[in-house]
Amino acid sequence: MAQINYRTHLGMNDILPDETGKWQALEQLIHREAKKFNLEEIRTPIMEQTELIVRGVGQLTDIVSKEIFSFSRGDDNYVLRPECTAPVARAFTEHHLEQRGGTQKLYYIGPMFRAERPQKGRLRQFHQFGVEIMGSDDPVADVECIAFMMHIYEKVGITNTKLKINSIGDPESRDKYKEALVSYFEPVRNELSELSQKRLDKNPLRILDSKEEEDQPFIEQAPLIHDYLNEESAGHFNKVKEYLNQLGIDYETDPYLVRGLDYYTRTAFELISPDLGSQDALAGGGRYDLLVEEIGGPETPAVGFAAGIERLLIACDELDIELGEPKSVDVYIVTLGDSARTWGVQALPKLRAAGASATMDYMGRSMKAQMKDANRENALYTIIVGDHELEANSFTFRDMRKSEEEALSFEEILQKVK
Ligand code: HAM
Repeated sequence: MAQINYRTHLGMNDILPDETGKWQALEQLIHREAKKFNLEEIRTPIMEQTELIVRGVGQLTDIVSKEIFSFSRGDDNYVLRPECTAPVARAFTEHHLEQRGGTQKLYYIGPMFRAERPQKGRLRQFHQFGVEIMGSDDPVADVECIAFMMHIYEKVGITNTKLKINSIGDPESRDKYKEALVSYFEPVRNELSELSQKRLDKNPLRILDSKEEEDQPFIEQAPLIHDYLNEESAGHFNKVKEYLNQLGIDYETDPYLVRGLDYYTRTAFELISPDLGSQDALAGGGRYDLLVEEIGGPETPAVGFAAGIERLLIACDELDIELGEPKSVDVYIVTLGDSARTWGVQALPKLRAAGASATMDYMGRSMKAQMKDANRENALYTIIVGDHELEANSFTFRDMRKSEEEALSFEEILQKVK
């Protein structure tokens, strides 16, 4: 028995060959559907400057204060990106993407890193796909973003989801709301959870996000953001809801949805699945009209979302949705003897050039073992080759599913696989 000396870090998974098929199928679906929405892919490094993430995501968020993987090398500080909105905003600013003209409609797929306590659906290295629409404050952008998100789940076959939306207002509305929250919570400060007491000083809005039991009765009676939205923010939110209604996208307005990142303004949303257990958010996003300026770029209203790929795959498992095709190979060449092997090595590229996937035994196994291997590899056809077949240019071409055989020349086989 081999001894296992090395393992992956906690919360970081290998994606093994039996699983990569579904990842590839999902990624291809995302690329294909993104084209229909006129989105362009952007790829940013997995490491960023610490300062960008701290300023972008927010010093007091859990992500920055507790969950960052960081290290320094010489004078440089690195963090493994915990999310991709701040990195995309950085790339937008660094490369003056606004100069390309129009609205930048971007998407990405890739790994993110958060040092959270791992559990089902919560990892330290996880993967997101996401969209960032930069340079428009039109509610159409919000709705297109949500529509793309819903569209992907629908294409996958996950339809029993719940979309929650809220508006957390622009800074003017939110400052008024914060004041109202502080006056409401301050008199009951000592009855709140420790975490909420801290949040009361630093970011009272996040109290609404608390999962602590003792906070719930107070949260239920708390003032609602909607009573504090100014005309502009309320109008924007109404337009988003109107477009969603017109598209037939169901949603629930959730006044307590505040999201765990600091950059949001106005629209915020989350997509929830009943199939995920306690980590029930499939995806989340919202508007972040001030982030690009905050990190030094031009005034750029923007909206986006990100979706957890592992959580999407958990939901697929729960719903018995198979992504991708089962592993298979079109042709497996079964060889008997040295000349047949030499022939096989040369036949492989010809089969592939004809458009088939093709393989043969690499271990010098017996014919019986090769047939067994062809079955294990889920080969659709086998070509059985020995000295006799070579001489006659007539090979046994076996349809493995039908268990039928015919004698064909190699040219005829190539025609067939084409
Ligand atoms: P987020 O809500 O932090 O938003 O993450 C989005 C999604 O990533 C979550 O709904 C969840 O599915 C997945 N996710 C987050 N953390 C983990 C984890 N530890 N393990 C597994 N999956 C996880 C953002 O990241 C924002 N950047 C979204 C956004 C884009 N807002 C505007 N543009």
